[in-house]
Amino acid sequence: RACEDLIARGAVAVNGETVVRSPVWVLPAVDRVTIDGRPVRLKADRLVYVMLYKPRNTVTTLEDPDGRRTVGELVDHPSGERLYPVGRLDYDTMGLVLMTNDGDLANRLTHPRYEVHKTYRAVVKGRLEDEMLEKLRDGFYLTDRRSGRTDGASRTAGALIEVVRREPTRTLIDITLREGRNRQVRRMLAKVGCPVKKLVRIQMGPLTLKGVPMGAWRELSAGEVGALKKAAGLVKGSTGRSKRADE
Ligand code: URA
Repeated sequence: RACEDLIARGAVAVNGETVVRSPVWVLPAVDRVTIDGRPVRLKADRLVYVMLYKPRNTVTTLEDPDGRRTVGELVDHPSGERLYPVGRLDYDTMGLVLMTNDGDLANRLTHPRYEVHKTYRAVVKGRLEDEMLEKLRDGFYLTDRRSGRTDGASRTAGALIEVVRREPTRTLIDITLREGRNRQVRRMLAKVGCPVKKLVRIQMGPLTLKGVPMGAWRELSAGEVGALKKAAGLVKGSTGRSKRADE
């Protein structure tokens, strides 16, 4: 009743248009609803969380003006909910992409303070020697790009690196980062002279890709959603990352 009264007195607008009659149907994840000009946050009917094993040659967006395959095309969730990718993988990088309609969690996970660690399996050209590994572990200066332009340089945070296999012409490593700068893994490895030939994100915080074939997706378990929220500091009593560590 109270909502109907608000509508009747012309206080409610959907996507900028004042609503004069009810009912009015809205898509919570898409439409902008305001009361007296102030936005109302609408929750989706059901929060959905899936992980996709993104193949190569796929953009991490829902639409692509150039007509390339998108992650949105690969996830057809039966709820019909529009699921947004959290963060981005390069067109030619494969691996774990989290997709959800939970805007709170997505915002948290893309905020630098709460960004969870991500592990990539990289196949690089050449033999990655110990002194190069040390450089990667210590961190070094990489240029920053904002809005497509170079905007200074800053030091990368240290990376965790495990050598999986060394061969004469290629090296397999697992590299774990807690920041997500543009093409960071590729740029770091190119800088030590071992360009990436293949890159797969195999882990994101508590989530691993195990059991998901390339190109397929699956819904997260309740336990995985809980662990992710905890890692993002969204569960009471946990802060994900200590404030002090950010200072
Ligand atoms: N680092 C990269 O270089 N590319 C990705 O897609 C992700 C991390």
